[in-house]
Amino acid sequence: MGNGGYDDGYAACPCFWGREPGSLVARFLARVPDVAGWDVLDAGCGEGKNAHAFMMRGARVTAVDTSALALLNAREAWPSSTVEWVHADVRRLALPPASFDLVVAYGLLHCLACRGEVEALVARFQAVTRAGGRHVICAFNERRQELIAHPGFEPCLIPHNAYLDLYRDWDIEEASDEDLHETHPHNRIAHVHSLTRLTARRPA
Ligand SMILES: C[S@@+](CC[C@H](N)C(=O)[O-])C[C@H]1O[C@@H](n2cnc3c(N)ncnc32)[C@H](O)[C@@H]1O
Repeated sequence: MGNGGYDDGYAACPCFWGREPGSLVARFLARVPDVAGWDVLDAGCGEGKNAHAFMMRGARVTAVDTSALALLNAREAWPSSTVEWVHADVRRLALPPASFDLVVAYGLLHCLACRGEVEALVARFQAVTRAGGRHVICAFNERRQELIAHPGFEPCLIPHNAYLDLYRDWDIEEASDEDLHETHPHNRIAHVHSLTRLTARRPA
């Protein structure tokens, strides 16, 4: 069972999040097009739209999700992909220090239980990132949430500035706190999430 209450969506729709990379990933790849040979961790990969985009640019991608349904959809979407799909809770996955050039956590962190877990996992992601490596982070924050489309889901909501503070020793390349208006394909309920988007680079 996945965390975050997304399994209903994954069961109802084989393409819940779409096939195109998220907007922050698309901007990252426009700015840093050459990621060939990079080691990329996509934590909470869902159906792999971001993992696939990095793989197509020549990166070695490890994509992790707790949802078996999400990974089933990913494997069916891209049957010949070289992405390594891992069914695991990323909080408990053994990851060698300084082993990734890029960690993507797109929609993962607000699925955790509490702020302490967010801080601990970001610290782990920082420890597994090589000097000069990057993070691409996208997470609900505490400013504005309409959760009507996510019954039973109680996301962990922390302030946008708390996310920035986790990266105070890194170079923040892009950061925003904006409203995301969305409608999911399985229930068609329009709703809004305030979203922290952040790209940061570990000092070389
Ligand atoms: C909002 S979805 C985003 C999926 C994908 N990153 C995307 O942008 O399309 C968050 C994903 O994180 C996964 N997830 C939540 N907690 C997790 C954990 N502890 N370890 C691994 N995956 C987790 C959920 O199953 C879900 O697929």
